[in-house]
Amino acid sequence: MDYTEGQSPELSPASVEATLAAMTLEEKIAMMSGRGFFETFRADGNVWGASPYRAGGGCERLGIPAFYFTDGPRGVARGESTCFPVTMARGATFDVHLERRIGEAMAMEVRAQGCNLSGAVCINLLRHPGWGRAQETYGEDMHHLGEMGAALSVGLQRHNVAATVKHFAANSIENARFKIDVQMSERVLREVYLPHFKRVIDAGCLTVMSAYNKLNGEYCGQNRHLLTDILRHEWGFEGVVHSDWVMGVYHPYGAAAGLDIENPEPIHFGQKLFDAVTNGQIAPDVIDTACRRILRVLAQITAARDPLTDYPSTLVGRKANTELAYEAALKSAVLLKNDAALLPMNAPSRVVVAGRLARVANIGDGGSSRVRPPYAVSPLEGIEARFGAERVSFGGDESCPDAVAEHAKDADLTVLVVGYTADDEGEYIPGDINLGQEVAEAIGDLDVSAGASVAAETPMPRGGDRLSLRLLPEQVELIHRVASVTDRLLVVIQAGSAVLVREWIDAVPAVLQTFYPGMEGGRALAALIAGDSSPSGRLPFTVARSEADYPFFDRDADTIEYDLWHGYAKLCRDQIQPEFYFGHGLTYSSVAYRTVTCRSTNGGVLEVEVAIENTGSAAVAEVVQLYVSPPGKCAPRWPHYLKGFERCEVAPGDLVFVRFTVPRDALMYWDDAVADWRFETGEYVVAVGPSANPEQHLTTTLFL
Ligand code: BGC
Repeated sequence: MDYTEGQSPELSPASVEATLAAMTLEEKIAMMSGRGFFETFRADGNVWGASPYRAGGGCERLGIPAFYFTDGPRGVARGESTCFPVTMARGATFDVHLERRIGEAMAMEVRAQGCNLSGAVCINLLRHPGWGRAQETYGEDMHHLGEMGAALSVGLQRHNVAATVKHFAANSIENARFKIDVQMSERVLREVYLPHFKRVIDAGCLTVMSAYNKLNGEYCGQNRHLLTDILRHEWGFEGVVHSDWVMGVYHPYGAAAGLDIENPEPIHFGQKLFDAVTNGQIAPDVIDTACRRILRVLAQITAARDPLTDYPSTLVGRKANTELAYEAALKSAVLLKNDAALLPMNAPSRVVVAGRLARVANIGDGGSSRVRPPYAVSPLEGIEARFGAERVSFGGDESCPDAVAEHAKDADLTVLVVGYTADDEGEYIPGDINLGQEVAEAIGDLDVSAGASVAAETPMPRGGDRLSLRLLPEQVELIHRVASVTDRLLVVIQAGSAVLVREWIDAVPAVLQTFYPGMEGGRALAALIAGDSSPSGRLPFTVARSEADYPFFDRDADTIEYDLWHGYAKLCRDQIQPEFYFGHGLTYSSVAYRTVTCRSTNGGVLEVEVAIENTGSAAVAEVVQLYVSPPGKCAPRWPHYLKGFERCEVAPGDLVFVRFTVPRDALMYWDDAVADWRFETGEYVVAVGPSANPEQHLTTTLFL
C-alpha cells in the first residue's frame, strides 16, 4: 500500500487490537484527552483556532497519530481559508449536493492545514431565533437538519477528515450554555432533539462532540443515557465521542458514561482518570473501550487511500472553493417580498446603497467558528462591481436618515442593508471565563464546576443570545424614512435567523434575507439584484409576527423545559399566522404544483411523486417540500411534518416530476409508556408545496 504524507503506516484497522495490547495505561489515558491547547493558544497571540489543536489520540512510542482539530462550520477556522455563507444560509439552499461539495472543499482545506478532525457539522435545532449561535446550524426542522448535516459530514469524510457532529444534544441557548439544565420528556428528546443526530450518525459520521449543557439533570458530556444507552446501544455508533472545549465534562466518571476524549486538555481526565482506574473507581475496560474507538477512527482516516495524492497549501482559498462560496451565497438568499416585481433590475442607471452594514463584509460572529478569508466582498463593493461604480453611490447610514432619503429620492433602486453583527449575536464568552493562558497555568487544581473565575480579557467579541428579535430602532427609522420617499427600495437583512419585520415590512416593496453570506456575499447580492440568477433560497425557520408566537426563551435560565412544540408546528397548532412560513422564498418566476400521487409499497415505504411546472419566464430552482400529517389519534402529533425536500432546476415552460420516498419508520412516534417507537394506523395526509403553509399544499390521502 502506498501512503501519502500525513498517513500512518503503523496503524491500520487490522492492527487496532495489537496496538491496544501494546499500550500502557498511561499511554491509553493520554490518548483520551487533547493536549497543548493553551500553550498553542498563547503562542498564537490568543487567536482561537490559529494552529491545529491536538484533540486526543496519539502515542509517539507506537507511531499512533493524533487527532488535530479545526473548527467549522462556515469554513476552516484557520489560516486564510475560504469563508462560505454561514450554516443557516446554507440551510436555506435546501441543497444537499451543494452542502456535500462544500464539505469536500472544506476537507481539502482542513488537510492542507495539517488537521484531520473537523468541528463543522453543527446541527442543533433552532428552537428560538434568539439563540446566539443560530447562524451555525441549519434551521428549525429535524428532517432538514439531518439531511444537510449528513451531506456535510459525508463531504468532509471523503478526504479522510473525521467529521464531528455537535453539540450532542439539546444545545439551543447560548449565554447559559455552561449551566443550563434542559429538561424534556423522553418522547420530546427522541422526536425533536435527536432524530437529526441519528441521521448524521447513520450517514457514517465518525465522531460526536458532546454539548456543554445538562440534559435532564446531567451534563451532556457525562450523560450515560445520551452517550451510551442511546448513541452506542440503540444507534450502534462505533465512533468517538469527545467533549466540547474546557467545560465539557466535570468528573472522570464521564469516561464510564461514554465520553472517550476530554478536550482540549486533561482537566478531569488525565491524572484524575488514571487515579480513578488505579483505585478501582473506574474499570480498566472503560479505558480499553474508549481507546479501541479512538484507534479505530484514527486507523480508518489515516490508513485509507486519499482521493488526492497531495494536500498542498495552495488548496486553501483556491478559486474553485471561493466560487463554491459564491454559488452558496447565490443559492441561499431568500427573497421574502418582491411587490410589483421590483426585482430583478438589470440595468439601473442610478443605484443608492445605504446603511452601516452596506460597507462591511459581514460574514458572521467572532466565536470559534470565525473564518479569516483573504478577502470578503461587501454589498457596496459587489454592487459597484456589477453595475459600474459610476452608477452606484453610498447614500449614508443610520446616523443620517434624511441624507439617505435625499439620495434615494430619484434613484432607480435603493438598497438598504440592515441587520446584526457579531456584537448582537454569536458565540458567547462570559466575562468571568477565560479561555487563555491563565486557565492553562491553573490546570491541575482548577475546579471549573465550582465556578472558577479567572479575570482577563478574552480576544473574542461578545456575541451571545439576541436581546431583541427586531432590527435596531435606528435601522427601523431609516427604513421608514427612505420608504417615505421611494417605492424603489430593497431592504437586505443580514442575520443568523429570523428577524421580526412587522413594524416596517408593509412600507417596503422588496426584502431579501442574505444571512451572513460569506466572502463572496456582495458579489452574489449584486447578481441576484441584476437577475443574473433568480433567488432560490427558502427560509429554514418560521418568521413570526410577534415574539409571543415563539416558545419561551430565557438566555440566563438555570433550567428550562422543552416540549414538542416550536416553529411551524407550534404556530400551526395555535392557528397563528406567521409573517413567513418555514420554506417560504420567492423567485423571479412562478411554479405551479400540478399533481401529487402516492402509494405505499409492500416494504412499507411511502412513494410520492409530484409534477411541477414553471409557468413564468425565468429559469428558477424550486424547493419542493413534502409534508406528512399523521392521524394523531393515539398521541398529540404535529399538524404536519417535513419528510422530504428536493431542490430542482426548472426552465420556463418545463414540467418536472419529483419523487420522494419515506420509510415507514420515519412516521412513527415515541410512546413513553412502552419506551419505544410506535406506528399509528390510520389515514395520513400527504402534502406537497413550496412552503409549510397548508394553504399552498396539494394533498392526497393514504390509509397506512
Ligand atoms: C464551541 C464548539 C467549538 C469548540 C472548539 C467551543 O466553545 O462550543 O462549537 O467546536 O469551542 O473551538
